[in-house]
Amino acid sequence: MNYPVWYLPAIGGGTLIAIIAVTHVFISHFAVGGGLWLVLLETHAWRRQDKALYQFIRRFARFFVFVTLVLGALTGVGIWFVISLVQPAGTSALIHRFVFIWAAEWVLFLVEIVAITVYLHTFDRLPARRHLTIGRVYCTASWLSLFVINGIITFMLTPSAAAPTSIADSFFNPTFWPSLLLRTCLAGLLSGLFVSAAAAFWTDRDLAGRLTRITASWSLLALCGALPAGYWYLRSLPAPVQSLVEGASPTIVRTLAVGRWAVLALVIGLLLAVWRPARIGKPVALAGLATGLVLMGSFEWTREAARRPFVLHGSMFSNGLRVDRATADPFLPDIPWSRATSAGRELFKFQCYACHTLGGVNNDIIKRTRGMDEATLAAYISQLHAIRPFMPPFMGSDEERRALATYLTGLQPRPAIPASNLLQSGSLP
Ligand code: HEC
Repeated sequence: MNYPVWYLPAIGGGTLIAIIAVTHVFISHFAVGGGLWLVLLETHAWRRQDKALYQFIRRFARFFVFVTLVLGALTGVGIWFVISLVQPAGTSALIHRFVFIWAAEWVLFLVEIVAITVYLHTFDRLPARRHLTIGRVYCTASWLSLFVINGIITFMLTPSAAAPTSIADSFFNPTFWPSLLLRTCLAGLLSGLFVSAAAAFWTDRDLAGRLTRITASWSLLALCGALPAGYWYLRSLPAPVQSLVEGASPTIVRTLAVGRWAVLALVIGLLLAVWRPARIGKPVALAGLATGLVLMGSFEWTREAARRPFVLHGSMFSNGLRVDRATADPFLPDIPWSRATSAGRELFKFQCYACHTLGGVNNDIIKRTRGMDEATLAAYISQLHAIRPFMPPFMGSDEERRALATYLTGLQPRPAIPASNLLQSGSLP
């Protein structure tokens, strides 16, 4: 273990990543799909000489630039901040392999930022054809940035069938294409929801109705594409990961249930929007957007949970330890950053905290170990990976394993002693 742990036992690093990452992913998929909407709608407005629509696009472009540039950039930097603090070993391993791919990603961001800024400031100043060309440059760069990051994210889950030797093998790994298709469809869906929400706030109700109908039909189409793409994605996963997604992981079962409700709610809402666009007021449109966020969250959470017990599938566990480490070797002497105060606490921090909190909302270890006595828990810890394949094996000596069990059972709330017992024994504790 080369890094100290940023220890926030009540919140958990995973929760922090989830909050920032899901917000960022939501915004960045909007950034990919929204550009396409701008270009399509602007083309439509020019062809039909539709001034009302053109006015809408101008305003929407401003909103789009604010959300994607300001909030997108803030949350993007936020992701780097949080992953490098919460998963330093995993982040470093990814940078080692993909440093040039990341460089390409930053160049694409730069092209996006320049193109969309020029696009925003040249409405009415450039001939339609040129203005649209700038819009298309933005669209291409933003989709390519999805293409590029998709290779890195999918590599974490499916590093490739054989041991990856080249960057191309790692990049075009077994889930690269299904994930790209799925994310492209999700980008279409989410950006459609954003356009509908913007339309709901537009005062020209006739135009708002037309826009809602068009965007809802496209969003519906994108959702129809996302479902088979999701299935293809699932089928491209290695068998043990597939079995986690299909029910072996309680976390994923709960998350997918939420995702299914979100899909159902979106289908109903979008059908209503196509059928009766005038019915879609601000609350419904905003609820649609919130449901999109929930759907995205459940997809990302499932993907992260499906990778367990790894941060990089097959090579590094979620707690940053490499899989080839000998499990029975004493652990703490290897950790320059551990404190000598409590072996149990340090073992929890370096091995379990990656997925468990202490008294927090997410996967609280105090709740999970309720009812286990020290001996049972110590025995359980020796079998962690065998009983629950989504947990890494415990690494350490028998003495350390017992110290962890002692520490964890010591956290259990003490049962209240009835007052009558106290009176009988005649002494206060
Ligand atoms: C890669 C993530 C991960 C790591 C690391 C991890 N766990 Fe878990 N653990 C889980 C998940 C997920 C659950 C199941 C949560 C649920 O039921 O929803 C779980 C459940 C448990 C349970 C409840 C019993 C059960 O079978 O569900 C115990 C006990 C436990 N973990 C102990 C530990 C200990 C001790 C460590 C550190 C040595 C550890 N875990 C490290 C992910 C992890």
